[in-house]
Amino acid sequence: MNELNAIVDAAKQAFTAAATPADLENAKAQFLGKTGSITELMKGMAALSVEEKKSRGAAINLVKQAVEAALTDRRQAMADAELELQLKAEAMDVSLPGRKRGQGGLHPVSLTLERIEAIFGSMGFDVAQGPEIETDWFNFTALNTPEDHPARSMHDTFYVEGGTETAPNLLRTHTSPMQIRYAVQHVKKYRALLDAGAATEGASEYVMPEIRVIAPGRTYRVDSDATHSPMFHQCEGLWIGANVNFKDLKVVFTDFCRTFFESDDLVLRFRPSFFPFTEPSAEIDIQFASGPLAGRWLEVAGSGQVHPNVVRNMGLDPEKYIGFAFGMGPDRLTMLRYGVNDLRLFFDGDIRFLSQFQ
Ligand code: DAH
Repeated sequence: MNELNAIVDAAKQAFTAAATPADLENAKAQFLGKTGSITELMKGMAALSVEEKKSRGAAINLVKQAVEAALTDRRQAMADAELELQLKAEAMDVSLPGRKRGQGGLHPVSLTLERIEAIFGSMGFDVAQGPEIETDWFNFTALNTPEDHPARSMHDTFYVEGGTETAPNLLRTHTSPMQIRYAVQHVKKYRALLDAGAATEGASEYVMPEIRVIAPGRTYRVDSDATHSPMFHQCEGLWIGANVNFKDLKVVFTDFCRTFFESDDLVLRFRPSFFPFTEPSAEIDIQFASGPLAGRWLEVAGSGQVHPNVVRNMGLDPEKYIGFAFGMGPDRLTMLRYGVNDLRLFFDGDIRFLSQFQ
């Protein structure tokens, strides 16, 4: 029996000594392989009597089981060690600060444009977009500003190469060209109905629907200081109908300003002014009753009754159609709303400034 115990001990030692799975398989072969010591013991039983075979066989079996158990233990220990190493190698440093993905947000001027669109939208105004590269006709001539008109010099702009009489040749200096573009489309739709016989011009049962639109967007001038930027925003407003007057402008614009600034203690002043495309014309100033700007008159828009020549360029008869227009500066409205004193901050792209509005 000592001989058998010695085999188990030898196997345990060999298995423990094996450093790699391959070593272990070699060690296994020494005991359980074709010429392994346990296999040899079994072969040696052939010469024994039946009785001897029984007891010797049982003893050899025990040895075999013990060796197999030792082998399984060693295999498991190796796998555990392997896993341990892998876990160590792939360890995460949970004390490292996480990488934050900043949440984006809208630019303060975009927030203002959204507010303007929502407020005028609630008053039945459509929102229109138009080209930033414009023709001379839409930007100036159609707006009653012919080539030699002195008002053109106040709108010094960037001219685009290759422009012709009809091809776009300049960066628009204001959103006012959208008055003409939108009105012409509107009138075209109405005329198509007339042509199709769906309506009769002047018939009491069919009157052209009023033109009521705002047109926000980017505009350009050769200007740059704390309150002027070469690219800035404007929002045009236009309301044309059979009987739309200055009182309507006052009501609509007062309502807009009070909603925009969330203040009922805000008054408006219409200060006589000049624009080629309106007659009469007025600058709109607002005054807050309280807050840091209280008591000061602040200019927020130009406005006026649309000039008959402009109404004509819309394709309408100025004897029948009348209305008003206004143009405001969303950048300035944003400065007033948030108390920002330098326009350039809006266009510097400094995230420390911009993230304050989220
Ligand atoms: N387009 C003018 C400007 O850029 C602003 C303006 C004034 C627009 C009067 C209007 C208006 O529609 O009626 O200075």
